Amino acid sequence: MPAVNRTLVICKPDAVERGLAGEVVARLERKGLRLVAVELRRIDRDTARRHYAEHQERPFFGDLVGFITRSPSLVLVVEGPDETWRIVRTLMGPTNPAEAPPGTIRGDLGTVLTENLVHGSDSAASAQREIELFFPALA
Ligand code: RTP
Ligand code: MG
Repeated sequence: MPAVNRTLVICKPDAVERGLAGEVVARLERKGLRLVAVELRRIDRDTARRHYAEHQERPFFGDLVGFITRSPSLVLVVEGPDETWRIVRTLMGPTNPAEAPPGTIRGDLGTVLTENLVHGSDSAASAQREIELFFPALA
C-alpha cells in the first residue's frame, strides 16, 4: 500500500502553456517536498474522466475534461511529512483564483476558475487513487 505522505499534483495545461510549470514545481520544492515522479503528459480523455469522476454529473464536466486534455500537463508525485496532500492544497489556494489570497499559487498566478493552474489530491484516499491512476508502477 502506498504511503499517505505522497500526493498527486498536476500542473494543468494553462500552467504549461504559460511557462509556469517550473514556477509551480519550484514552490513545491522550496516548501520542502520531494519529487518522486514527474511526467509531461497530454492526459487522454479516458484518464481525465476517471480522474474527475466525482464531478461527472456536474454541468461543467465536459468543459473540465476538454480543458485538462487540451495540451500537455506536468503530472507529479511529491512526498513529504504526514498529510502532504494538505500541504499542497494550502500552497495551491482556493479553487477560484479570484478568491485565492496572495502567496498561494492560484492567488499569485491565476484569475479564472476554469484555468486555475494546478490540481492537488484532496484527501489521503484521493492521493492513493490518483497515484494509482497516473503512476501505477508506484502503487
Ligand atoms: P482540482 O480538483 O482541479 O484540484 O480543483 P479543486 O479540487 O480545487 O476543485 P474541484 O471542486 O475538484 O473542481 C475541479 C475543477 O473544476 C473546475 N470547476 N469549474 N465551471 C464551474 O462552475 C466549475 N467549477 C469547478 C475548476 O477549475 C476546478 O479546479
Ligand atoms: Mg478537486
